Amino acid sequence: MSSTPEGSPSLDATLRPASWDEYIGQNSVKNNLHILISAAKERATPPEHVLFYGPPGLGKTTLAHLIAHELGGALRSTSGPAIEKVGDLAALLNNLGPGDILFIDEIHRLPRTIEEVLYPAMESGVLNIIIGKGPSARTIELPLPPFTLVAATTRVADLSAPLRSRFSGGTFRLEFYRQEDIEQIIKRSAKILGVKIDTEGIQEIAKRSRATPRTANYLLKRARDVAQLKKVPLSAPVVREALGMLEVDELGLTPLDRKLLGALIERFGGGPAGVGALAAALSEEPETISEVHEPFLLQLGLIERTPRGRVATKAAYIHLGKSAPDNLNQKLL
Ligand SMILES: Nc1ncnc2c1ncn2[C@@H]1O[C@H](COP(=O)(O)OP(=O)(O)OP(=O)(O)O)[C@@H](O)[C@H]1O
Ligand SMILES: [Mg+2]
Repeated sequence: MSSTPEGSPSLDATLRPASWDEYIGQNSVKNNLHILISAAKERATPPEHVLFYGPPGLGKTTLAHLIAHELGGALRSTSGPAIEKVGDLAALLNNLGPGDILFIDEIHRLPRTIEEVLYPAMESGVLNIIIGKGPSARTIELPLPPFTLVAATTRVADLSAPLRSRFSGGTFRLEFYRQEDIEQIIKRSAKILGVKIDTEGIQEIAKRSRATPRTANYLLKRARDVAQLKKVPLSAPVVREALGMLEVDELGLTPLDRKLLGALIERFGGGPAGVGALAAALSEEPETISEVHEPFLLQLGLIERTPRGRVATKAAYIHLGKSAPDNLNQKLL
C-alpha cells in the first residue's frame, strides 16, 4: 500500500536493508522472529505463519524479504486483490521450493472465497478443491509441500477472526520509529546514495520524517536534490528549505495533515467527527485518512479517538495557531 509520493518502488528497492543488522529498530519484532526462525531451522521445518501490521512505510515488506533471505529461499510476492481464483492460490502454493516464503501483501483485501481455502492450507497443509457443481460436487484434498505464509496489512481490524487466528507464528505490530533509529537509517541511506550530510542535517530530516523510514528516505532525496542544484553541502538550512518547498512542517505534517486538522477544528467544531465525514470534507478516500494520516496524528497526540469519532486535542489547536474551546476536556472523555 503506497498512496504517498514517497512510495516509489525503485527507491524502496535501492535502500531496502539486505540483512538483519541493517534493519534498524523494531527490536521486539526482530527478537521474536529470530527465535521463531532459529527454532524452525533446528527442526528443519518451515517457520509458522506470521502477520505484520502497521502504517505504510514502517518495514513490513522488508521483514518478509529478510525472512526469505534467512531461510535461503525466495520471496514469492502477491497481494490480496491479485488472488482471484482458488487456482491462483493453488499454483502459488504448489510452486514454492524449500525455504521459499509466500508473501501476501494487503491480505485484508483477499476475497472471502479464497480466505476459506487458505484456512486448511495454513492449518493442515492441504488444499480443498471442489470439483463439479450441485449435488454431484465433491471436494478433493490436495496435500501441499510445507510452507510459510508471511502476510502484511495496514488494516488488521479488517481481517476476519478465523484468518487472524491462523498466524500461529505470531502477529506483529510495527511501531513508529524512535528519533535515533530514524537518524541511523538516514545515515545509512546517505552513504548508499553517496550524499554528504552533516549531523544537524540528519537530525532535521529525522524530526520531520513522521517516524517512518520510507518518509525519511524520501525527504533525504528531496533535500539532496536542492543541495545538488545549489552546489552546497547538505546541512540543516538546506533541509529546512527543501522541506519548506514540500510544505512539510517542523512536526513532519503534510498539507493534507494540516487540512485534516483544520477541517476537524473549523467544520466539525473540533469533533467528534467520523473518518467518513472528514474524508468527504477533504474530498479524499476514507482509507487514505485512516491508514496514512490518522495513525501519525494520533501518535503525535494531535487527535484522539473517542467512541463518537475523532477529536482535535489542545496540541492541534496550538499547532494551527488557534485557541482551544473551553469544553475541550469534555469532548475528549
Ligand atoms: N527498519 C528499517 N531499517 C532501515 N530501513 C528501513 C527499515 N524499515 C523500512 N526501511 C526502509 O523503508 C522502505 C519502506 O519499507 P517497506 O516497504 O518494508 O514498508 P511497508 O511497511 O511494507 O510499507 P507498505 O505498507 O506501504 O507496504 C524500505 O525500502 C527501506 O528502505
Ligand atoms: Mg509493503
